[in-house]
Amino acid sequence: GIDISKLRDETGLITLDLGYKNTGATLSEITYLDGDKGELYYRGYPIEQIAEKSNFTEVMYLLLYGELPTQNQFQGFEANIKKYNYVAEEMKKIIDAFPRSAHPMGVLSSLTSALTAFNPKAVDVRSKEDLDHAAEMLIAKFAHLCAWTYRKTQGFSLNHADNNLNYVENFYKMTFRMPNQDFDMNPVVVNALDKLLILHADHEQNCSTSTVRMVGSAHTGLFASISAGVSALWGPLHGGANQAVIEMLEMIEADGGDVAKYVEKAKNKEDNFRLMGFGHRVYKNFDPRAKIIKKAADDILNSLGIHDKALDIAMQLEKVALEDEYFVERKLYPNVDFYSGIIYRALGIPTEMFTVMFALGRLPGWISQWKEMRLMGDPIGRPRQVYKGSEKRDYVDMNLR
Ligand code: ACO
Repeated sequence: GIDISKLRDETGLITLDLGYKNTGATLSEITYLDGDKGELYYRGYPIEQIAEKSNFTEVMYLLLYGELPTQNQFQGFEANIKKYNYVAEEMKKIIDAFPRSAHPMGVLSSLTSALTAFNPKAVDVRSKEDLDHAAEMLIAKFAHLCAWTYRKTQGFSLNHADNNLNYVENFYKMTFRMPNQDFDMNPVVVNALDKLLILHADHEQNCSTSTVRMVGSAHTGLFASISAGVSALWGPLHGGANQAVIEMLEMIEADGGDVAKYVEKAKNKEDNFRLMGFGHRVYKNFDPRAKIIKKAADDILNSLGIHDKALDIAMQLEKVALEDEYFVERKLYPNVDFYSGIIYRALGIPTEMFTVMFALGRLPGWISQWKEMRLMGDPIGRPRQVYKGSEKRDYVDMNLR
């Protein structure tokens, strides 16, 4: 271990803060969250109000431009996105080249980066207008990439956009429309999807957003920066948790549904097992998004007439864990993704696609943070370290090692 008492002498002004638990990386005007009170605000508006009254397109506008849009601004924004509602045909060849078994997040990250090659001008960002242009372009094209990633995993043909629909409806149709069949635009499903996307839209300096800002701070283009964010989100300690939660609930169910056994397992460090969907770096009281999602999951299953055993197990697990000293002491509560997978599953979205859904939701947050960073002229991100490797030593020729 590192002898902390010596750090000041050895490192001068360098602060060692593993995982940046207490390091503010930037000033921001986008999202505020109070981890002790369990509060979250987008541009000052409480998440509860936004989730109830707004829609995902409006939230994208709010995050990007700082204010709720007027009717005209909303329509103008929608129209701008629709201008870019296509993806270069050559991108389909790239999709074709992936094995069907490829994880959708790897495919999505690669495709997002590849967009740069087909839209090189969007990388050349010199003004606020260039930024907004690149943002609207990516918002339109990313929905295609998410839908097409799903189609690829299922072995289905790729659908094109329908400009008569709003953003979420269009995504839904591009994802699920089958050739030569009438498409049922189920409003219950579309509303649920909209709400989930809103709840994931931004969350200040989380791992993927910090990644996007860090990559962008080198003045790397928007698409490549977002591609890095997709990769960061993939990990099971971050966005990948939503997939991991359902897999865990299925495992508990298959093992006879004994939730207490898994709570014990999570407490035993030697088992190297965590309750996925529990705990949060910042929320130490409750995650306000989890509250909204729990209720939404219940409502949606009811209105679709689905009984999901995973929801029963999730509720039991929450109850047992929240009464357990280990979880109470460490302030571990269900996070946003504890219940989201149950909704995705009810909407017919396969488990491996859950994190892609998160990525689609987080896109406006990533873009807004990237834009803010560029407009504020943040310097290139470049943390320091505390070196604890070898002393100086002389090179040894290979035949003497
Ligand atoms: N199950 C069991 N124990 C846990 C869990 C969990 N899910 N989460 C944290 N702990 C324990 C740790 O073992 C540690 O215990 P210790 O003090 O006895 O060593 C203590 O709680 C603190 O945990 P840290 O890992 O130090 O907390 P950190 O803030 O670094 O991690 C994180 C937060 C990554 C979210 C963590 O709680 C976790 O791994 N959760 C499960 C994965 C998950 O749900 N991720 C989604 C996060 S939300 C999002 O990205 C959308």
